Amino acid sequence: MMKALEGVRILDFTHVQSGPTCTQLLAWFGADVIKVERPGTGDATRGQLQDVEGADSLYFTMLNHNKRSITLDTKTKDGREILEGLIKVCDVLVENFAPGALDRMGFSWERINELNPAMIVASIKGFGPGPYADCKVYENVAQCTGGAASTTGFLGGLPLVTGAQIGDSGSGLHLCLGIVTALFHRTKTGTGQKVSVAMQDGVLNLCRVKLRDQQRLQSGPLTEYSQYGEGIDFDDAVPRAGNDSGGGQPGRILKCKGWENDPNAYIYFIAQAPVWEAICDVIGEPGWKTHPDYAKPKARLTRLNQIFERIEAWTMQYTKFEAMEILNKLNVPCGPILSMKEIAEDESLKATGTLVEVDHPVRGPYLSVGNPIKLSASPAEVRRSPLLGEHNEEILRDVLSYDDARVAAVTASGAMGNPQQLAAE
Ligand code: COA
Repeated sequence: MMKALEGVRILDFTHVQSGPTCTQLLAWFGADVIKVERPGTGDATRGQLQDVEGADSLYFTMLNHNKRSITLDTKTKDGREILEGLIKVCDVLVENFAPGALDRMGFSWERINELNPAMIVASIKGFGPGPYADCKVYENVAQCTGGAASTTGFLGGLPLVTGAQIGDSGSGLHLCLGIVTALFHRTKTGTGQKVSVAMQDGVLNLCRVKLRDQQRLQSGPLTEYSQYGEGIDFDDAVPRAGNDSGGGQPGRILKCKGWENDPNAYIYFIAQAPVWEAICDVIGEPGWKTHPDYAKPKARLTRLNQIFERIEAWTMQYTKFEAMEILNKLNVPCGPILSMKEIAEDESLKATGTLVEVDHPVRGPYLSVGNPIKLSASPAEVRRSPLLGEHNEEILRDVLSYDDARVAAVTASGAMGNPQQLAAE
């Protein structure tokens, strides 16, 4: 079966999490992804948060599946020459260096465009043009500057960052869409273009509903926020709303049986208006179906704490899975709070390939998240991440058509790493 991006060649100059998320997706869709790494160390994440001595970390292996690795010191003459050769034969260059690093290396947009006018150059930076354009940025900085942290947490508490990597992986997803869109555009025009994603913009895009609420504040209080029912005045900026639902249907996290000892014995419960009567019946409050204080959504808004306390008295009688089963039959939108341990053991996620077990020659088998985007005619098969420089010679010969003498010369030059060390590997 042909892969959707078969025939597309990516020059992957990414590191850490944001860029590698993007190029891993492209690789899963069938692109040939050539990861260029600094000799000796490679992508810094290879050595970060290591759990098995001497083996690439899970941080690296889980973000670099299906890629090939070449080590190149792009600041040497031979290294630059190899990179130029790769630019000429690749379709897309993806990078997430600090602002200006690619230019300093001698590869400005103009230079790349001169070498290959059809090349798409895709970049992630922390910020777009503006006062912070030159700043280096990591995940949590983007969560803070994109509006996520100020709107996450509880009223009166600290701003919070979330576990979901919306700054890094979120920006990688945005960039990936930009790249395939530019590839589509190129099929009609034949020309490349720049694709840029700022992490701040990506996070803000995911916080769209909070900018919605910022503007709604001008027309009065946000009635679906708990603080409205609690009689607490709103300030002039969107407050933190705890676990309140971000949409028009009130929702909360409620305790389930065992919550005293299990930090994840909770369920998210949405009191959706169309199923209100079924909720009243199941929790044993049939009178609320017609009572003027509860029957209509608007009347319920000032009583959400009391209503959810009553619903919680019901959910506490059941485990989160039992409650889920009962509520699903009634079409109540709800979901158990799943721990990472429970997710790692979830057979249905394994059956769909969302969770995959991957074997690695140095670290052995490990669990990873597979491709969450399923294409029916282009299924993703997950292959282990490359060892550092594993494909040096293969890329020189197959992609750049170097002969024996040229391979030997660049190897001896040190552009791909210490020649003695390379010979020993
Ligand atoms: N050969 C030679 N030099 C190389 C190289 C190679 N193969 N690969 C990288 N380098 C050099 C770069 O040219 C740069 O040199 P310079 O500063 O002299 O120009 C240097 O390595 C460091 O690169 P940089 O990107 O600045 O790494 P860093 O570790 O200092 O910063 C980030 C890391 C993530 C903060 C920064 O890259 C960044 O802000 N990226 C954009 C936003 C982003 O994606 N952040 C999230 C990451 S998950």
